[in-house]
Amino acid sequence: MKKFALALSAISVAIAAGSVRAAEISFAANTTGKNVEFLHNQLAIFEKNTGNHVKLVTMPSSSSEQFSQYRLWLAAGNKDVDVYQTDVIWAPQLADQFVDLKEAAKDVVGQFFPSIIASQTVNGRLVALPLFTDAPALFYRKDLLEKYGKQPPKTWDEMAATAKEIQDKERQAGQKDLWGYVFQGNSYEGLTCNGLEWVKSSGGGQIVEPDGTISINNEKAAAALERAKDWIGTISPPGVLAYQEEESRGVWQTGNAVFMRNWPYAYSLGNGADSAVKGKFDVMTLPVAAVGDKPSSTLGGWNLAVSKYSEQQDAAIALVKFLASKDVQKARAIELSNLPTLTDLYDDKDVAAAQPFMPNWKPIFQDAVPRPSATAKVKYNEVSSKFWTAVHNTLSGSGSAAENLELLEADLTTLKGDAW
Ligand code: GLC
Repeated sequence: MKKFALALSAISVAIAAGSVRAAEISFAANTTGKNVEFLHNQLAIFEKNTGNHVKLVTMPSSSSEQFSQYRLWLAAGNKDVDVYQTDVIWAPQLADQFVDLKEAAKDVVGQFFPSIIASQTVNGRLVALPLFTDAPALFYRKDLLEKYGKQPPKTWDEMAATAKEIQDKERQAGQKDLWGYVFQGNSYEGLTCNGLEWVKSSGGGQIVEPDGTISINNEKAAAALERAKDWIGTISPPGVLAYQEEESRGVWQTGNAVFMRNWPYAYSLGNGADSAVKGKFDVMTLPVAAVGDKPSSTLGGWNLAVSKYSEQQDAAIALVKFLASKDVQKARAIELSNLPTLTDLYDDKDVAAAQPFMPNWKPIFQDAVPRPSATAKVKYNEVSSKFWTAVHNTLSGSGSAAENLELLEADLTTLKGDAW
């Protein structure tokens, strides 16, 4: 402690004397859950340690909105943002605008899951350092399932039947606002994740296959979307068509849903002091279409990239390495229940004690289904937005799933052209 204080005062003296130039770094970060609050605390430590100053630029929670803004800034060669928090799917699309971190991260890269590093490596360049990974869960109310003698559901139909029965009985007993199932039905990247899960867990493929084939126009995929359409207004509120992660969590955390599809960040928030479901829920893997089918979670996650246009690249890289370090990832796992990208933290006793689901989540994210971002490369955002539009149209009753998927296939074929 004493040594640390001495080192700090030495830095302050050096800064005051002008021998070390303190950098001003600007960092664009996502606002989902308590990310910003957590970052403020961590940035204070970084600032103390380095004498640098970090300005936090808060971005919308929606991955899609954040992407649109980043794309504009980067296309304009914006020098005002040095570090970007980036979604796992963006690496191939934004690679050229980010600094190659390979050399700078060579001392730590071996501590990360190789597959996650691979997802951020484009043409041999490491374009972002993984901050946390993501794979969704089916959150379920243990207390309500027990009350009605129900088992956690294995299939989508079982989930819907249990949701309906508990919803109806609880409403009769006075819980007027209770819904069976909340998820992310808004027109944005989150619906691509939900839709991919429904389709893939029904044997309907993964929209565009790793070999580039457009596979989405098939009967199993259409049946999966029709199944989800039947939930709207029966077990899911009509408003779910406008929900993103935070809206679903709002309904869930006030005790108004039996089941929720969400990412692990909702686990620690759901167990927070102000949560109506604290201690009343558990998480499991998402359902499948039929027993024996493979569970399919979409692979998510967030990373840190340094802008090619930054005039503070060394300080920006130091910030990225700090935020992705073991100490900070451990604190992030314990406080925010975000899944670490460092292998060791899955054997960490403190992490397991704070987030009992986490050791079990390692095989789940390792087995998760990637969205076709590496396949569609710079066209991924368009593929995704065409897919979520087809899904949203189906859910809102504008065209049948079969019609919408046929149109989608035609659109994707045009978009693909000769090759992705
Ligand atoms: C989560 C995932 C991210 C995904 C987003 C969709 O934040 O980590 O990969 O794109 O949800 O809403």
